[in-house]
Amino acid sequence: MNSKNQGKIDHIEGQMVEGPIGEFHRDVHSLVYDPDRLEQAYDKHAENYDEFLQELAGDGTSGCSHYTTLFFSKIVPLQKNMRILDAGVGTGIGGVELLSLGYTPLSIVGVDLSSKMLAQAEQRGIYEALHYARFPETNDILPSDEFDAVLCAGGFSHCAMPASALPEFIRVTRTDGFIVFSVRKSVYEEPNSEIKATINQLEAAGHWKIMAQECGAYLPADGVEAIYIACRVC
Ligand SMILES: C[S@@+](CC[C@H](N)C(=O)[O-])C[C@H]1O[C@@H](n2cnc3c(N)ncnc32)[C@H](O)[C@@H]1O
Repeated sequence: MNSKNQGKIDHIEGQMVEGPIGEFHRDVHSLVYDPDRLEQAYDKHAENYDEFLQELAGDGTSGCSHYTTLFFSKIVPLQKNMRILDAGVGTGIGGVELLSLGYTPLSIVGVDLSSKMLAQAEQRGIYEALHYARFPETNDILPSDEFDAVLCAGGFSHCAMPASALPEFIRVTRTDGFIVFSVRKSVYEEPNSEIKATINQLEAAGHWKIMAQECGAYLPADGVEAIYIACRVC
């Protein structure tokens, strides 16, 4: 990085990102996992998060939230009174997207490590409960076999939600329930990718079956893609 561009580059993927969006990138995308730092970053940007997401998507959608819930809707059949966990709920865009895709009436619970993001989600008035907690440390607040499906949109990014959240998603999902999530492509494809190894280990151990996996748009204006994965709990 030359000094002229210092502070203007997404230090992870090497793209030029200027202004408030660049600041958001640099705050939330870390090179080491530090949940305290992540919490501070999301707290700082909570009020502008939806706006940033729309700008990064650039196609009139909410980007990663939209594409993950769309993928979810191709896999998870509409059922009445479904209980869904929105893991890393953020400002609650996932709930809005699920409602617009016809998942209604919706019984949805959100968990996030940022209280300010949760406060934004609360304002939507569509979540049955919102919990301030960090995956995988959710044993005390989420009962086992509780949900018909887990949605995690945008959680698995650079040093963001840890791969150890996946076994916790399995614990809280009933047998034959669904777990649907996105993994930023560059994270999935990095050498010795922990998330990729965990996904495959969980299948090899008979905890879930991978039902579908596809690469697609995530933040189109930013040129970022994701791997979308849907699993069924055994
Ligand atoms: C990119 S945002 C996505 C938010 C929302 N799902 C959406 O689609 O807009 C990722 C969210 O995951 C939350 N998060 C990251 N790691 C987490 C963890 N270990 N436990 C709970 N929440 C986490 C962050 O605070 C942030 O709100």
